[in-house]
Order: sequence, then C-alpha cells, then structure tokens
Amino acid sequence: MNARYSYLSHLQCSLCQHPYNADQLESKARLLVKDEGQNPTGSFKARGMATAVSRALELGARGVVTPTAGNAGAALAAYAARARLPAYVVVPQDAPDTCIQQARLYGAEVELIPGLISDAGQVSAEVSRQRGWFNISTLREPYRVEGKKTMGLELAEQLGWRLPDAIIYPIGGGTGIVGMWKAFAELHQLGWLTSNRLPKMIIVQAEGCAPLVRAFHEGLEEAEPWPAQKAHTKAAGLLLKIHFLEPGDETVLFFTSSGLTDLGNYSQ
Ligand SMILES: Cc1ncc(COP(=O)(O)O)c(C=O)c1O
Repeated sequence: MNARYSYLSHLQCSLCQHPYNADQLESKARLLVKDEGQNPTGSFKARGMATAVSRALELGARGVVTPTAGNAGAALAAYAARARLPAYVVVPQDAPDTCIQQARLYGAEVELIPGLISDAGQVSAEVSRQRGWFNISTLREPYRVEGKKTMGLELAEQLGWRLPDAIIYPIGGGTGIVGMWKAFAELHQLGWLTSNRLPKMIIVQAEGCAPLVRAFHEGLEEAEPWPAQKAHTKAAGLLLKIHFLEPGDETVLFFTSSGLTDLGNYSQ
C-alpha cells in the first residue's frame, strides 16, 4: 500500500503479566494480558479501520459507511476524518453513548436505529447504495482483516517469535480472530516462528448473545442467528473452568477496548 494513503497507524499495545495468574486459575496457567484499549481510538477496531480507510481512499472512495455496535463507528469516524473522507455510521440506539459521541466528535454523521447490529447493517447497505459510498461492514472487504492481523504479528514479536499455548479473545463479527489466525498462518509459512505449534484459540461471547459458543457446544458446523436480546460482556472467567486450558499453558487474554478496566470482574 502506498505510504501516502496510510493516514493513521495504530500503536503497539502492551502485553503484561497478569497479577491474577496462577492461584485464581484452577489450571495454573500463566496469564498475560494484551491491552488493546491503548489504540488511538480506545479499542482494537482502530487496527482494522486504519488499513480499510487507507485502502478505500487509495481506490477512490468518496465516502465510507459502517454499521457498528459502537467502537468500529468511532474508529471509522477518526480515520475517515484524518483521510478527509465523509463518514456515515449506523448504530443501534442502545449502543454505548461514549462511542456515539466519539464518532460525532470526529465529524461522522451518526444515525441511531431501533434494533440490532444486523438491522444497522441493512441501513448501511442502503445508505451506501444511495450515496455511492463504500460500505466497510465487517468481513465485506478484505482490509479490516489485514489491519486486525497486526494483533497477531505484534503478539508474535512481543513473545520473541513464538506463540502462546492459548489465546482468549472476545468475538463478535469475527474480523479480529480471523485476522490473527491469518497472521499466524502467514508467519508459519514464512518460517518466522520458532515452533510449528499454533495456539488454541478460545473465543468468548456475551451470555446474552453467544451464537458461536452455542454452535460449538451443539457440535454444529454453522451458527444460527441469535434471537434479539440484550447482550452483556462478563463472560471470560467461564472458559477457564471447563478445561480448555492445560496446566502450565501460557495464555494471552485480549482486552479489546479501553472500557474494561476492572480486571476483578474477569477473575470470577
Ligand atoms: C470491544 C470489542 N471487542 C470485541 C469485538 C468483536 O469484534 P470482532 O469479532 O468483529 O473482531 C467488538 C466489536 O464490536 C468490540 O467492540
């Protein structure tokens, strides 16, 4: 990608030894935390939007649209503002107010809608058609995944080009986990990794909206859409109790946004 179009980058986010390791995990895993809240817009969404907006601009987009649960809209608004592209963000009305205000502060048009992110997706597609603006919805263009890949590259670099035994990661639309896995596969292919073993990828979803977790437990190949319910996000602790981890596993827990500051919630 031409450097001229790379308007904002993300920062390297710290990886630190977690004080709650050992005793509070029954399997005595060594727990590291990667704090993605240090990204310029406060969440890991900055990584995907940095590349997606840069590439959209390079390809001549006149404006950009996205549906969002909050953080992606704020990130798109920031990177679009930096690239001097107009942005339109469609967000369910019960999304966090901080994200809505953040997107507005960066100058995006923000439309609040009743319903879920899937409803916001339909509105975004319509706005994109009407205005001829580029639709940056999750997994509809390849560059958000390329941006999220940097989480995997950065992790490998921070650990001296070896990967941990397991990664615990909150998943919604899936760009983060798809991007990280792509990074590991590519590093492996390039021969940059010190071992051939790839990490166990453990996903976390909110209890109120967990289509992939449900599909996994039911042994299904494809997940069914979840019925409209309010979601909440305190789910990480559960996974450690059902033996996905082995004793001594080095595990990296991803905090994908700056909203999650009370680590105490995650030791329960
Ligand atoms: C803080 C945070 N974590 C995780 C996710 C899931 O993102 P994805 O699965 O699309 O990578 C989101 C998506 O909105 C988010 O805002």
